[in-house]
Order: sequence, then structure tokens, then C-alpha cells
Amino acid sequence: MTSPLRKPFIAGNWKMHLTLSESVALAKEVRVGCADGGPEVALCVPFTAITVVAEAVKGSPAAVGGQDLHWEAQGAYTGEVSAKQLADAGCRVVIIGHSERRRYFGETDETVNKKLKSALGADLIPIVCVGETLDEREQQKTYRVLETQIKGAFMNFAPAELSRAILAYEPVWAIGTGKTATPDQAQDAHTFIRKCLARGISEKLAAGMRILYGGSVKADNIDSLMAEPDLDGALVGGESLKAANFVRIIQFRTQARMERKA
Ligand code: 13P
Repeated sequence: MTSPLRKPFIAGNWKMHLTLSESVALAKEVRVGCADGGPEVALCVPFTAITVVAEAVKGSPAAVGGQDLHWEAQGAYTGEVSAKQLADAGCRVVIIGHSERRRYFGETDETVNKKLKSALGADLIPIVCVGETLDEREQQKTYRVLETQIKGAFMNFAPAELSRAILAYEPVWAIGTGKTATPDQAQDAHTFIRKCLARGISEKLAAGMRILYGGSVKADNIDSLMAEPDLDGALVGGESLKAANFVRIIQFRTQARMERKA
């Protein structure tokens, strides 16, 4: 069970899915499932859907997020969107460095670092994604990969600047594969990440930073994942497109967490 220092955070990553009318319908169903006093919730939607989803969840505990941003405030960068534009459209959150951006669009630790600076400057809550591939895990390189990605992302920031940042551990082999990390595997990676933050940045930041798990999170595995002490929430892909399943994920059972640890 997560520390009381860290409020659980459940984010949906809709990736490149849904039309506007489908987006509004899903957002409205999620809205109904978000109770005050539950975890923080964010819907990270395609750029085109930000304004309509923001309208659909207005006044509810659910926030809207982007899935990427450019690091410059404005300029001749065809096809890109800035932090300020995301905030202006209704976003409070933005995903940075998702493995799909790293794999298909040349995202590097250096661009993640620049995007993080820009997101924090616009008062967005950044969700910085890290995670190893299957190859890297099989070659026992998981810790090294995580440490490099975290150092690269958080380079040249004062600890206080990072207090709003969220990390998401998303092992690439678990994304969209149905092969969820076991609670023990996830807890092991999260513990390592927290140690890395304590060693490299500050103990206080490490204790307060929320670390989400992502990769085939489902209604039937969220309770056991959230039972782990260093899992502070989830970044959910496919299952965030199914209203009932996502609402069940948001409503993960505290009872189940206590029973499992009892
Ligand atoms: P899935 O939940 O579909 O595995 O996707 C995870 C993810 O990439 C969230 O960012």
C-alpha cells in the first residue's frame, strides 16, 4: 500500500484511438466513476480531443493530459504542440518519453529532459516514462537502463523543481502484450527507481515522488499491483478505452490490498 505521502494516480493513455464523439462518450462514463476522495485521475488523449474531453470532465476530479509535447514555447516546428498550447487547451498533465515515442519517433533522454523543463515551466504535471525492453531484461540490464533514463530525464534540475513530476515504470515487454509484470517484478523495479532518486537527487524527492506502473494493467490485476508499497498508481493503455474496466481500475480495492498484505 502506497505511502500516505503519495496520493494514488491513475492515468489512461488513449494513444491514437477514438473519434471526437467516442472520446466524449468515454470521458462522460469515466467522469461518473471518479469519486471525490478516490485517486487522482487523468485522461491522456490525442491532441484533437483535448478540448472536448476537457469540457466533458469539467468540474470532476478527472484531469486531461497530452501524450507528448515539443520543448520550445513556439516557433516553426510543423506538426508539433507546445506546453503552453496544451495548458491553454485544457491539459493539466502530459506524458513524456513514452516507449512508443522513443521507439518510433526518435525520442531520447536528451529530448525527454528538454520536454520536462518545458512542461514544468507551463505548470503541467509531467509523467516521465522509463522502462526496459525484453532483450535488456534478459541481459540483466534492467537496472542500468532505468538508471540511465532517470538520470537523463532529471539532469540539471534542482530537487524542488521536480516535486510535481511523476515517473511511470513501463517495461516495454509488458505494453500491449497482455504480459503484465508480476507485482513482485514491478515492486522490485519501483524500489530500485526510488533508490536511484534518493542516491542521485534527494531522499525527500524519492520519498514523495509518485511512481506509476504501466503495461497490461487490467481490472483483474490492479488490486494486486496496488498492494505493493512502492506502486503509487497506473498508466493504463488498452483498458483505458473500455469505460467499465477503466472505472474498475480507478476504484482499485484498498480492502484487497490490506488482505493481501495481512
Ligand atoms: P497497455 O496498458 O495497453 O499495455 O499500454 C500501456 C501503456 O503504454 C500506457 O502508456
